[in-house]
Amino acid sequence: MRKKIVAGNWKMNKTLQEGIELVKELTTVLANEKPNCDVVICTPFIHLASVAPTLKGTVMELGAENCADKASGAYTGEVSAAMVASTGAKYVILGHSERRAYYHEHAELLRDKVQLALANGLTPIFCIGEVLEDREAGEQEEVVHEQISNSLFDFSPEDFAKIVLAYEPVWAIGTGKTATAEQAQEMHAFIRKAVATKYGKEIADNCSILYGGSCNPKNAKELFANPDVDGGLIGGAALKCADFKGVIDGFNA
Ligand code: 13P
Repeated sequence: MRKKIVAGNWKMNKTLQEGIELVKELTTVLANEKPNCDVVICTPFIHLASVAPTLKGTVMELGAENCADKASGAYTGEVSAAMVASTGAKYVILGHSERRAYYHEHAELLRDKVQLALANGLTPIFCIGEVLEDREAGEQEEVVHEQISNSLFDFSPEDFAKIVLAYEPVWAIGTGKTATAEQAQEMHAFIRKAVATKYGKEIADNCSILYGGSCNPKNAKELFANPDVDGGLIGGAALKCADFKGVIDGFNA
């Protein structure tokens, strides 16, 4: 059956020392009370190599927030998927709406990034989600379908099966306005159906689809209780130990 995952996306927050401190706190609380899901910490590139050894022997896995669309070479300031993997990271967030909006990342570029991530043994957490105008126009399904199909539907079934999806409605990110459990379930079911139509029921049933957007300790349980919501991609609430643990506890009975 598909994995349940709670992944933290630190975005551009935390100095190295603050990050290490948070990981230490999480290590203690998660050792005392084992989570009922996989836990992933996605940090800025610069922290990866230092955070990796502190996660050894814990239940947490490491991820990056991005990687380059080129394998290597003269691309000043870029960080390749191979470099990310060489730190010990296992995951990489790709296609986050902030990358799409502020850094103009488009479908073909994201397809290249996913391909390089997979070639280097990383699990992409591929983000999709509509903006408020799309939802107000009732076009959320079309938008999300296009995002998935334009970047991911050229992959073989074997490769697609390695990808984790994250539905993050842009209007819910950092706004305190969460999608209702019903809205999340509706979209996740739609996404799973789209995957099933393209790759078949087995791959769709095994595909983890995370929800992201103002997910917090108060609403996590209700969101995660939906049959097609397999966990969360967490921004603000991933920055404090108690909050992140509270979200992880959304999977506790
Ligand atoms: P918030 O949880 O801060 O809304 O951010 C969600 C997100 O963008 C995770 O990638």
